[in-house]
Amino acid sequence: MAKITRVRTIRTRRNGGWLIVKVETDQPGLYGIGSASDWYHNDAVNAAIEQGLGPRLVGREVGRIEDHWQSGNTSGYWRNGAVMNTALGGIDMALWDIKGKEAGKPVYELLGGASRAAVPCYAHASGNTLEELVEDIRRYVAEGYPVTRCQLGPYGGGGFLTPAEAGRPRGADTFASTSQGVFDDEAYLENVPKMFDYLRAQLGMGVKLTHDVHEHLRPHNAVTLAKLLEPHRLFFLEDNLSPEQVTYYRLIRQQCTTPQAMGELFVSPHEWLPLIQERLIDYVRCRVSKIGGISAAMKVAHLCEAYGVQTAWQEGGDNDPVNQAAAMHVDMTIWNFGIQEENHFRPEELEIFPGHARLEGGHLYPNERPGLGIEIDEAKAARLLDADLNRVPRHMAEDRRADGTVVRP
Ligand code: CO
Repeated sequence: MAKITRVRTIRTRRNGGWLIVKVETDQPGLYGIGSASDWYHNDAVNAAIEQGLGPRLVGREVGRIEDHWQSGNTSGYWRNGAVMNTALGGIDMALWDIKGKEAGKPVYELLGGASRAAVPCYAHASGNTLEELVEDIRRYVAEGYPVTRCQLGPYGGGGFLTPAEAGRPRGADTFASTSQGVFDDEAYLENVPKMFDYLRAQLGMGVKLTHDVHEHLRPHNAVTLAKLLEPHRLFFLEDNLSPEQVTYYRLIRQQCTTPQAMGELFVSPHEWLPLIQERLIDYVRCRVSKIGGISAAMKVAHLCEAYGVQTAWQEGGDNDPVNQAAAMHVDMTIWNFGIQEENHFRPEELEIFPGHARLEGGHLYPNERPGLGIEIDEAKAARLLDADLNRVPRHMAEDRRADGTVVRP
């Protein structure tokens, strides 16, 4: 049996936002890769792998994925946090990659085999005007995307007033903000249903549409929004509540049938368990790398299956092609797959990852190579990385209310 000899990380993308784990073994040429990217705390995840979880695996048998996951999960005593779970997730993916290479089969074959021909994805449509938005949606529909997310303007768009309209108190502008406008719940409640009135009038009911609230609303307004959008029969409404206010999903369920998607910030079973068990959400949105990798995602998916909940694993702009591949393997096999968030990478980024997932006509296609099917060209990865940019700290956007209060992202 192959033994682990080294666990190390490779940082890439121009700004260093991607952290790839490589697990090496004592068998010539046998190694695996996984995604441990954390856009905001890559250094912390890197330390957790190279100084914590990695060294304890050296000398252990590479094939014992479940044992490495369980013992790794409790190896720091405190657990279920974002940093440790991301580190664990990257290692878990690399171990599955190795398992597939040893078996000579793609990972999804080991997880249960294909349940579908390819992985349907949803696109991100947006526009500064309703006309632009409709045009963008039509473009994605024509491309073959089965589902499209619809957003007006920038992040949180639809809810912004100009500072003059908002009537700000003196000094409100001294609170740093990353957006031009002032976020206002009532403006959002006014504009987003109107956006869907327009979209349905233009596109009819046959097009599958979603919307992401980015947790910006006060919880009672999130209930109102779900009710107002009910006639538009969304595919799902995403992040309508912040993780701190999920008990409001009970009220939403009592009030309307708008399908709810939640969980991209979740890292702990304590967060998703109650929502799934009480059937308070319809789509679970965790990011595979953030909850502990393929092993954890399969467990969440199987739990959801019993409760009639579907998956819609999160990706988004900071995600890397290795996590995309890992999610795709899970998506290929689980029965209760709902939809997969899309991701577009630059050609020079994809060049680093030979064997990356192919996105064609709104669907992801795996290749038939053993393991995850994706490799990393370390020389190209190093060439793309800009050391100066890598040192610049990255932070989540800060939207503010009229008085300066920060809005949950
Ligand atoms: Co979201």
